[in-house]
Order: sequence, then structure tokens, then C-alpha cells
Amino acid sequence: MIQIPKGCKDVLPSQVYAWHKLEDTARSVAQAYAFKEIRTPVFEHTELFARGVGDTTDIVNKEMYTFLDKGGRSVTLRPEGTAGVARAFLEHGLAGGVLPFKAYYLISAFRYERPQAGRLREFHQFGCELYGAAGAAADAEIISLADTFLKKLGLKEVALQINSIGCKHCRARYHEALKAYFAPHIGEMCGDCRSRFEKNPMRILDCKEEGCKAIAAGAPRMLEYLCDDCRAHFESVKNLLSKAGVGFTVNPSIVRGLDYYSRTVFEFVSAAAGAQGTVLGGGRYDTLLEQMDGKSVPAVGFAAGMERLLMVMEAENCMPPADMGAACYLAGMDAPSREKAFLLAEELRREGISCEVDLMERSVKSQFKYADKTGARFVAVLGERELAEGAAQVKDMRASSSECVKFEELANYIQRRL
Ligand code: HAM
Repeated sequence: MIQIPKGCKDVLPSQVYAWHKLEDTARSVAQAYAFKEIRTPVFEHTELFARGVGDTTDIVNKEMYTFLDKGGRSVTLRPEGTAGVARAFLEHGLAGGVLPFKAYYLISAFRYERPQAGRLREFHQFGCELYGAAGAAADAEIISLADTFLKKLGLKEVALQINSIGCKHCRARYHEALKAYFAPHIGEMCGDCRSRFEKNPMRILDCKEEGCKAIAAGAPRMLEYLCDDCRAHFESVKNLLSKAGVGFTVNPSIVRGLDYYSRTVFEFVSAAAGAQGTVLGGGRYDTLLEQMDGKSVPAVGFAAGMERLLMVMEAENCMPPADMGAACYLAGMDAPSREKAFLLAEELRREGISCEVDLMERSVKSQFKYADKTGARFVAVLGERELAEGAAQVKDMRASSSECVKFEELANYIQRRL
């Protein structure tokens, strides 16, 4: 028996209603902020992620699903959504169009990670990207959108943490300070961190190894090295968030696992989302588009992990009620009434009423059992007498009452009572 690949999950019809709540909420909140959906390919040229996500990140170094296609080109299943959106934005010349450009996406993404609770190899993201606005209001709008989304899901125990990692100017000074701090400890750090020390010492702050974490705990904080512009930007973001009623704490250790960020970075964390705890992360990335195309376009965005959100929804009792069965089950007693049930169901479906008829050649008793098990709201029973009278016995499964309803009035009868 061939089984599902490690780190992937099936969503069965009995579970999909929770996904619908996530997706419907994402779409309606994105629309409230006037973001429009964008769809980009599941795979891209490997080079896009190597350059876009950054070659000092774990994603690019260890976690990408990269392969050669039949034409010998190296392609990669997207490990996240931002790089593809940025590519599409530039490729279609949207930088010269109406700005700000505001787009959202609901995608599957792929990372070759060690699977555990809340960490999968195929996972799903709801993401938003905003291009063209450099001011703090754009950061605040993106963070507020994320906050509204989580609140609309009913989540209360998810905490927003924000930080600023400065711009390339103030970060250069910070890197020097980090190097000076880590240099005496280099022998105690993991192999990855030793190479991070050379390439991007800030990445050490994101290491999951206990030894490195302990050393990083005493490292200098970026906030102390911010230049005046970055400090003023961060103050404005905090001010807007506070006034908008978006609660947050400043966590100076947030650096994010991708290379493209500058200035504001943020994460929404919950104890119920597995070892990592981050259900949503994002930030400003003013240099990514320039690195890709030479055009300087400021940008800010986030992505939420859908599987982690489901874990938190479960823990916080925010799961929606399971989908009901059909609005009406039409049971037939004999061959002519089964045929009539089939045709009546077709008519009702055209009116937008969800209906089921027996496809298993079951007895009336078993048809009733099926209707009950699947949660049908009404059961309309048809037999010889009903056909002669042109009316069905309609049982309301919730009220346990029964009424005789003319075939031509059936649609109306059900619609009024749903
Ligand atoms: P990220 O922090 O790598 O950021 O991922 C965003 C969210 O995706 C995480 O907070 C987590 O909830 C979820 N996630 C990541 N990896 C996994 C996994 N292996 N299994 C399950 N869930 C996972 C980004 O992807 C950026 N593109 C976000 C962004 C958009 N920044 C700016 N714009």
C-alpha cells in the first residue's frame, strides 16, 4: 500500500470545513483592506529563491525541493510566497502602474524540514504583500490586517511581537558589534553558526541549537544600533499600532529566518502551535525588489501558516461547527418513486437546494438511517400513494415532525425553513 509522503497531510471531506473558515476569513479580511488575490506558479527557477530568500538561510541551504526538469533546468517548489509575487510584480511591469500594489495569496509551500507538530514538508500559507509605500503607515496596515485576521478567527491567545532590524547602514555597525561579541565563543558554536559568523552573524540569533541559543542570549541588541531614520520609523509604527488598538510587545530577539528583511519585523506567536510557536510572520523588505531587478520598490508583507493556525483554533475552541448534510434527502420506496425522487432532486438542486437520493439501492429504513447519519435536515419520503397524490411526506429531522408537501411546493417549503 503506497502511503502519503512524510510531512504531508490529506484534508478529508470531514475536515475541510475548518479550512473553509480559514480561507473565507482570509479573503474577506484581505478584501476589507483592498488587497486583491495573486496566483503564481508552484515552482520557479531555483535562482529566484537562492537570490530572493537568501543564500545564508536554512530554507535555501537545507530545505528546498530542487530538481532538474526534463530540459535540464533547475527548478524549485516554492518554499514561500514572497519571492514569486515579487518576480510577477516586476515581470509584469507593475512597478510602473498604480501604487501601492496590494496582493494576497493562499498557497501551498514546500520545505524539506524534519516533520513535527506544526512543521510539515507541504504546508499552506495565507500571505499579503504591499509594494511601493515606504512609510510606517504601510507597516501598520499590514500588521493590523494580520491582527484583524487572527481576531476574526476568534483567536485570543496569539501574541504580537515586533522588532526593528534596521537598514543596511545601521546593520553594518550592528554586524561589527555582533562579530566582536561572538568571536571569543566561536569554538563553542555549531558548524552552521561558524559559517553564519562569516556570512551573516545576525542569523546566529535565530539558531535552534541550545548551546548557540545560550551564547546568543547575551548578544548586543539591534535596537541599540538603529540609525535615526530607522528609529523614527519604528516609533511611528508602534505609535500607529497602539492608537489602532493592536496590542504588541517589542521582542529584540526577532530576526526572522529569511534574508530579505529590513526595519520592521514581526511575529504572532501561540503556545498551541507546536515547538516553533509562530503562526504568522513578516516584515518590511525594502531591498528585495532592487536586488532582483535594480528597481527600488519598498515592500512589506507577512505570511500565516494555515496548519499552525488550525492547531491554535483547535486549542482555543475556535473550530467552526462541522458542515451539515444535504438540506433534503429524498427517499423512494419502490422503483417509480425512486425515479421521481431522482427527478425532484434535480429540480431542487437547480433552485440551489442541496439534495441527495439513494444511489446504493437501500431499503427505505436504511435510506432514513443514512439521511440521519449524514445530517440531512429534511427527509422527503415518496411511495405509491405520494406519487398518486403528487405530494411527499416531509420529515423535519430536527423537529421530528412530518408534513405532507405538494411536489411543486417542495422547494419553497425547504427554502423557508432552512
Ligand atoms: P516564514 O516565517 O518562513 O515567512 O513563514 C511564515 C509562516 O509559515 C510561519 O510563521 C509558519 O506559521 C508557517 N510555516 C513556515 N514553515 C512551515 C512548515 N514547515 N510547516 C508548517 N508551517 C510553516 C515567510 O514565508 C515569508 N514569506 C513571510 C513574508 C511575506 N514576509 C514578507 N512577506
